Amino acid sequence: MELNRRTVIAGAAAAGLAATTLGTGTAEAAGGKTPSKKLFGKLADGTKVYIWSLANGGTKLKVLSWGGVVQSLEIPDRHGHLANVSLGFDNIEDYVAKTPYFGALIGRYGNRIGKGQFTLDGKSYQVSVNDGVNSLHGGTQGFDKHVWDVEPFTKGSDVGLHLHYTSIDGEMGYPGTLKVKVTYTLDKHGSWTIDYEATTDKATVVNLTSHVYWNLAGEGSGTIEDHELQIAAARYTPTDTGLIPTGELAKVSGTPFDFRKSKAVGRDIRAGHVQQIQAKGFDHNWVLDKGITAKPEHVATLREPRSGRTLKIATDQPGLQFYSGNFLDGTLTGTGGSVYRQGDALCLETQHFPDSPNQPSFPTTTLRPGQTYRTRTVHTFGS
Ligand code: BGC
Repeated sequence: MELNRRTVIAGAAAAGLAATTLGTGTAEAAGGKTPSKKLFGKLADGTKVYIWSLANGGTKLKVLSWGGVVQSLEIPDRHGHLANVSLGFDNIEDYVAKTPYFGALIGRYGNRIGKGQFTLDGKSYQVSVNDGVNSLHGGTQGFDKHVWDVEPFTKGSDVGLHLHYTSIDGEMGYPGTLKVKVTYTLDKHGSWTIDYEATTDKATVVNLTSHVYWNLAGEGSGTIEDHELQIAAARYTPTDTGLIPTGELAKVSGTPFDFRKSKAVGRDIRAGHVQQIQAKGFDHNWVLDKGITAKPEHVATLREPRSGRTLKIATDQPGLQFYSGNFLDGTLTGTGGSVYRQGDALCLETQHFPDSPNQPSFPTTTLRPGQTYRTRTVHTFGS
């Protein structure tokens, strides 16, 4: 905690900025710490980016107004020692120039759309292409690369932030002005809930998610191959070489993709399955057994054996992208000063299946005027 605070201030000072507290103070809310903000840095055009701090039930969260980024998420181990379990940077410049979506909110369409093309109500759309021939995480300037309006709240024993962003009609090629509200809530047990809401004025496609890179031993502590992972999914969506689903819902049984019983991430990561070779590890969407549900249901558990820290994920969404940090390559230096290498973190992104706008057999991601897109994912921590 102290280290992170110092490095944030050092980063701001290096950019010639005063790291003054500008927020609502640190008054204790019922059970939690009222969110407060400081200046984190400035964009090239002078726009200020703030870092919000909130805490509840043993969890400490820091969130940027840039991309709704979770810059730091601290949870205790079995001895009560806190560690930041989310990869990130200590300065805005790296978030702008180099981030592989560390901790960010992803939209308008999380994951990939083949060739960035789809047809909706008979009309063809070309959206921004930024991953070979495909569109990834909303295109060259997705929701992760915008400043969001942030509004703190306390409600009973909960503390949290409402984050607002309006994506105008045609932005990145998507139809319809999309009004997005994301709420981060920390409850008195330290659980972190994300609520996503969106409305549109024209038919569009939406798939919002959060891109936290987890390392439950602490960011910068090395590989996640010894983390144990369980995913409640009997099928996954195999992909082509561009990581676009083929449309098949393949059985995980008898393959390295079988995480129905908890196993170490590293156990089968070198099994040589063609799907792993082309993805350089795990980078696939698991078809959650429960399907779309009215309320969040448990879908995955991640456990780090040495610290005892656990993360349980519940969602109402039909899919979970498990990405084993394959493209981290030693070129990025994280919050605590360590270089991030391949497999130093993993992502568990609750969402609809990739390329759904082009896959009629996948659950629909179309949002129409008059409808409200509403989804929830809950992260529960233990040790
Ligand atoms: C994708 C990866 C991609 C990464 C970018 C993940 O959600 O599945 O293929 O490289 O995001 O950081």
